[in-house]
Amino acid sequence: MTELTRANGASPDGAALDAAILAADHRLVFHSWSAQAHLPQMVIAGGQGARLWNNAGQTWIDFSSQLVNANIGYQHPRVVEAIKRQAETLATIAPAVANQARADAAQAILRHTPPGLTKIFFTNAGADAVENAIRLARLHTGRDKIISFYRSYHGNTGAAISATGDWRRIGNEHAVGHRHVFGPYLYRSEYWATSPSEESERALRFLERTVQAEGPASIAAILIETVPGTAGILVPPPGYLEGVRRIADRHGLVLILDEVMAGFGRTGAWFARDHWDVTPDLMTFAKGVNSGYVPAGGVAISEQIAAGFEDRVFPGGLTYSGHPLAMAAIVAAIGAMEDEGVVENAARIGAEVLGPGLAEIAAANRLGGEARGLGVFWALELVQDKTSRQPLDDQAMDQIKRLCLERGLMPSIVANRVHVVPPCVITADEARAGLAVLKSVLDQVAAG
Ligand SMILES: Cc1ncc(COP(=O)(O)O)c(C=O)c1O
Repeated sequence: MTELTRANGASPDGAALDAAILAADHRLVFHSWSAQAHLPQMVIAGGQGARLWNNAGQTWIDFSSQLVNANIGYQHPRVVEAIKRQAETLATIAPAVANQARADAAQAILRHTPPGLTKIFFTNAGADAVENAIRLARLHTGRDKIISFYRSYHGNTGAAISATGDWRRIGNEHAVGHRHVFGPYLYRSEYWATSPSEESERALRFLERTVQAEGPASIAAILIETVPGTAGILVPPPGYLEGVRRIADRHGLVLILDEVMAGFGRTGAWFARDHWDVTPDLMTFAKGVNSGYVPAGGVAISEQIAAGFEDRVFPGGLTYSGHPLAMAAIVAAIGAMEDEGVVENAARIGAEVLGPGLAEIAAANRLGGEARGLGVFWALELVQDKTSRQPLDDQAMDQIKRLCLERGLMPSIVANRVHVVPPCVITADEARAGLAVLKSVLDQVAAG
């Protein structure tokens, strides 16, 4: 790479370089969740804050945070420096030994987890966090079944993908003991509800009836994304999560909150559960814990569940559990988020820019369905018309994606929705500029 490329992301032969990188990637790399002959034509060479660029000098405001993980933005100097320093000190060490970076990372996370969660089991990412949370719940209760939700994603490993509700589960259900229910989603209610309170009440009733019918004595846990993310950023209606907690308590079930996507500032709070004050027994995290600078995830474990393994062996582990580079990145990322008010910024951007801006687009554009979200965690649902609420088709969604990219906005498109999920560090000006692109694109698509 040339000095010019490093300096500003552009070089005279940048477009040729991008073409060569793309060709090599598509020839040699097997990509996730994709037909290999139909991959995106996208090269990213660098980034800073909430902006990304390629070698040809095209830049984008990032409304995706990649896979909703770059909460602290790109190339945060404190996190980059911490990784470098840790690499110079000790770049790898087995999970069984004590190491300062690991204890510091656990402490930094536990500064923000709800009271009652007292220990951290570190994993490599979100899927294995969910996998091990399920294992802990089964070992703790001596029961098998896991109740989770059709509108969910929990990761691409055995139990996590079986617990997942969306299309990625189908054909991958080789783990046993998983049952699914529909959670609340008033805009497309499964319960003929006409108000948030009706939706909440009826979804809770159906959940409890499922628990009763499955037999509480056979159920280890209810596993739920605090705010289902990939499924559409479905902010739960008032009373719902508290009701789930009560059902778990009534039947002696473990409550696992999956905060892999919703945690670490995404909703304008450290964890999404803070909005409702619901305390889980196990809470999974990954992504925003260190913004993916080095892969990491984990499970925050209640004192009671952890106590069960004082003398009993926990039958689970990973070679890289608590990897020192990931741990150093966690300590630095959480420290920077605390010192720089990153979570508060996410709350402010949501309340002052994204929330009102997306509501305006949803109301004014004939394709606008519903805008919903919290912090920097928003979905704009697009429909063929406002009455039928028929989802906008794939062709139109592809056009929206292409036009956004051409106009300098990196969107996150999921089914018939634009997920507006920028880094938590995005400025108000960047967020407004991104919304202006989105509005212009949707106006053009709506005009046909
Ligand atoms: C809620 C939730 N849980 C688990 C996962 C899996 O995380 P990973 O891809 O890091 O394994 C994801 C990923 O998007 C997620 O959104």
